[in-house]
Amino acid sequence: MIVSDIKGSVELANGVRMPYLGLGVFKTQDGAEVENAVKWALEAGYRHIDTAAIYQNERGVGNALKASAIPRDELFITTKIWNDNQRNGTVIEGFEESLKLLQTDYVDLYLIHWPVKGKFTATWKTIEEIYRSGRARAIGVSNFLQHHLEELFQSAEIMPMVNQVECHPYLVQQPLIDLCHSYNIVYEAWSPIMRGKVNDIPLFGKLSQKYQKSPVQIVLRWDLQKGIVTIPKSVHQERIQHNADIFDFELTLEDIDLIDALDQDRHFGAHPDTFTF
Ligand SMILES: NC(=O)c1ccc[n+]([C@@H]2O[C@H](COP(=O)([O-])OP(=O)(O)OC[C@H]3O[C@@H](n4cnc5c(N)ncnc54)[C@H](OP(=O)(O)O)[C@@H]3O)[C@@H](O)[C@H]2O)c1
Repeated sequence: MIVSDIKGSVELANGVRMPYLGLGVFKTQDGAEVENAVKWALEAGYRHIDTAAIYQNERGVGNALKASAIPRDELFITTKIWNDNQRNGTVIEGFEESLKLLQTDYVDLYLIHWPVKGKFTATWKTIEEIYRSGRARAIGVSNFLQHHLEELFQSAEIMPMVNQVECHPYLVQQPLIDLCHSYNIVYEAWSPIMRGKVNDIPLFGKLSQKYQKSPVQIVLRWDLQKGIVTIPKSVHQERIQHNADIFDFELTLEDIDLIDALDQDRHFGAHPDTFTF
């Protein structure tokens, strides 16, 4: 992945380009909060917004995108099908509801939010249909470990183009990154800044001094230099701008290794094999 500026993107397996920096909107309230966050992100140069049906803010995301003067084809919108729709066989209905709330004819990326056991291969069949209908420019998965991917590969006619997983200095999962990259699946980091906790890791104190950048900026830059798409969340304008101010420095390979070595295989969010929702 060549990292240039905030407008930069990575090419997915089908040729679609995905901006490698996006705004996450988990736990962002529908209405003014999400509308402002998206507006400030667009003003700062972001073109990629990551939402999900379960976040219950797709309407606000849609309102903000519509209110901006930016042409639809310059925006990249990701949303995700929720687990209940997988369980009760309403994937198409869930997808269409997302389109309605987002006020768009298509999404740029549609993901299976979690690998619901016994369901996700059937869900993928429906997601393939959605892709073939042209209403999702790209499709992928989220929270899939190696064994979930291998199970999916057995029946998939279209390979997932993206795998969005928890990823930060305490949860690197390098073998999963390598596996995805070997199949041309873009790896995407959720909770990339450990919900702000990267600020407490001593190594980043040193690296902050060296690069004159905050721990958050260093971690987001680490993602990009590792070829990982990243989607930090904030509802504050200064932080949204700050999190995108990562294109005027470059980490050395040694420092990337030092950050990799912080790995503790530690999940802060739910584990893909034991989630209960
Ligand atoms: N696929 C999945 O299962 C899944 C799961 C979780 C998340 N996600 C996606 O990934 C996105 C990012 O993950 P996340 O929201 O869990 O966590 P995150 O981006 O690692 O961290 C967000 C938290 O950090 C704070 N923050 C943001 N910028 C900061 C800065 N510069 N300095 C200090 N604190 C800062 C935010 O607070 P303020 O908002 O108050 O600034 C918020 O509390 C989500 O929004 C969502 O789109 C996907």
